[in-house]
Amino acid sequence: MGRAIAVVIPAGGSGERLGAKLPKALVQLAGITLIERAVAQMAPIASQIIVAAPAHYLTEFTDLLGDGITVVAGGTTRSESVKAALAVVDPKSEYVLVHDAARALAPTSLATRVIEELVSGAEAVVPALEVVDTIKVVSTDGFVTATPDRSTLRSIQTPQGFSYAKLVEAHQSALSYNDDAGAIEAIGVQVKVVAGEANALKITTANDLLIATQLALPSHNASTIKVGIGTDAHAFSYDSMKKLALACLEWPEVAGLEGHSDGDVAAHAICDALLSAAELGDLGSNFGTSRPEYAGASGEKLLQETLALVKNAGFEINNVAVQIVGNRPKIGPRRAEAIAALSAALGGASVSVSATTTDGLGFTGEGRGLSAIATALLSARQ
Ligand code: CTP
Ligand code: MG
Repeated sequence: MGRAIAVVIPAGGSGERLGAKLPKALVQLAGITLIERAVAQMAPIASQIIVAAPAHYLTEFTDLLGDGITVVAGGTTRSESVKAALAVVDPKSEYVLVHDAARALAPTSLATRVIEELVSGAEAVVPALEVVDTIKVVSTDGFVTATPDRSTLRSIQTPQGFSYAKLVEAHQSALSYNDDAGAIEAIGVQVKVVAGEANALKITTANDLLIATQLALPSHNASTIKVGIGTDAHAFSYDSMKKLALACLEWPEVAGLEGHSDGDVAAHAICDALLSAAELGDLGSNFGTSRPEYAGASGEKLLQETLALVKNAGFEINNVAVQIVGNRPKIGPRRAEAIAALSAALGGASVSVSATTTDGLGFTGEGRGLSAIATALLSARQ
């Protein structure tokens, strides 16, 4: 492997301002803890990762992060936590990145940008964003004492990168610094600034966690795609007057299917697949006994109504596929007709229809009924 890069992650804070019951690094962001997210983003560029955890939570951190990550007890301040982690950095390391667990969404590419600058010769590198608010210096009794020129100000993020030797030297001499670059500046090392990332925001308050959650979730207005699945089965009817309805077609040569609707297993399986992809429940929850107006509704009507629900939820149909399972009727000769009928009910959507027998097995193989299985792929409307 290339250069040895140790990543030190101070995660020893309690997260007082967030106000959760757990230390901040153990709080979940869209189902994954901040520390796991921070570790996962840094892992691709790290030869060693050391996490400074709150002293009473070492087991929780070790269990969560596994054997590949070194967990040490943090101190009562951030700089003590960094010091504790630095003490176990492999002395062969060329560079050390120090990265707050609280900046859990800082992307790997930001770490790479910092490392590139170290490789080109900088001894200390910090990512930074331009400041959007005007910053004022305010006295303890609440009066503005100065207004620094905003164009010279930057908000500093992590990961910050250092030559290993310089960072050790800085921490040996420094009292306590909020950020590691501060300690480095104090020993006269020049600190290079690179472009930061909006996603590297520091999660401090409950509102920050909300914002970060929005950033972490898949976007609803981008190209979200959703897959869904549905099945249905009905027994052939003893009522010889009942005609088979299947894939929105009539099949006069085959007995009809039981059921309080027309028993169109293909249409019903597709409806369920569409509703499942859109996370809208299923046929029963949308058109069941609580909606008597749908009793006996045709497969075509249910497909039309389902399409309306799916569109209303913000989706377009990419395609649906349905497979009919049974001995009779033979689907092949009327496949094109079936596709056309289903597609028409779905506003012209792309539909495929296939069929299979089950080698004489099960109720379909014994000729007692039909079943169908369907999938649907939806895209969020742009
Ligand atoms: N940190 C640490 N050891 C400490 C204090 C803080 O390792 N004794 C870490 C935090 O876990 C966090 C980073 O330093 O990843 C930045 O600190 P901050 O965002 O202030 O986190 P907390 O101190 O946990 O939050 P608060 O100040 O609201 O209590
Ligand atoms: Mg703090």
